[in-house]
Amino acid sequence: MIAFDPLGSPERVRIVDLHPKLGDLKAEAAAGLRRSPKSLPCKYFYDALGARLFEAITELPEYYPTRTELGILDRGVHEMAEAIGAHTTLVEFGSGVGLKTQKLLDALIEPSGCVLIDISRAALEASVEQLADRYREMEIIAVCADYTQPLRLPRPHRPSSRTVAFFPGSTIGNFTHDEAKGFLARVAELVGSGGGLLIGIDRQKDPKVIEAAYNDSVGVTAAFNLNILKRLNGAGANFDLAAFRHHAPYIESEGRIEMRLISELDQTARIGNTVVAFAKGEFIVTEYSHKYDLDEFEALAGSAGFRLTRQWSDDREWFSVCFLEVEGERS
Ligand code: AVI
Repeated sequence: MIAFDPLGSPERVRIVDLHPKLGDLKAEAAAGLRRSPKSLPCKYFYDALGARLFEAITELPEYYPTRTELGILDRGVHEMAEAIGAHTTLVEFGSGVGLKTQKLLDALIEPSGCVLIDISRAALEASVEQLADRYREMEIIAVCADYTQPLRLPRPHRPSSRTVAFFPGSTIGNFTHDEAKGFLARVAELVGSGGGLLIGIDRQKDPKVIEAAYNDSVGVTAAFNLNILKRLNGAGANFDLAAFRHHAPYIESEGRIEMRLISELDQTARIGNTVVAFAKGEFIVTEYSHKYDLDEFEALAGSAGFRLTRQWSDDREWFSVCFLEVEGERS
């Protein structure tokens, strides 16, 4: 359960460190590589190099989601702000991004507070500094925590009309459907009766367009994918990076992209005491990226306690920013 903690100090800007348990890269990797099919957790993409490679992905001509969502925000942000209402507390999960949150905060009508949640204290500190400078009237609480786990959030000091969460970037697509439902249910509980969630989702479309976005022609996504093995090697594993190839097929039956690393030959790799054998052609799944039909997403949100009340799309309907609300009186 995510809930507000009644304790807190009266400063306008504060960082609350809930000391999130950092994952054990080697143990989680060894466990994933014992599964069939073999898998690695996508959260391990994002070391310093991985974060830079992801930034580069967002600028690739083939990778449409980021620029499409930014376009939707540019055109619809004032309508979004009106739907959200005045004097709200905005909660953002994964605050490293910045630009989209800024666009929303710039448009919001006298927001009373902003709660940023991120596992990286360094990313939070940078965001907080920037936000505190730019939004001098707003209470800012940065919470260092893992938002994929149940958590208790500090309660803002200032009264607000409602709590609305913001989860742009179609990151929900990286969750399995069960994880997505669990996450949405925890957010619904956090924002409470009358609360809302503004969320970006990548829509189903021509699989050729989707596959091009994850198999770019200059190989940035390949470098991003292989970086997870490089990172494991930094932790003492001995993967031969040249013996794995990136490929990200769209799996029609699952409605998703699967980021894969395919073994080019029969080989073994060692992680700590675990030795993993790969047959030629065998692959490791490193990430899912689910695409949604609006109806399907509406049903998923409904099963988690939300009602889809508005949505904004681009002209091609490749991406949507959805506004979900929890029925009931605003608290
Ligand atoms: C972060 N996430 C929404 C990206 C996506 O499109 O699923 C991660 C990504 N993986 C490969 N390219 C981008």
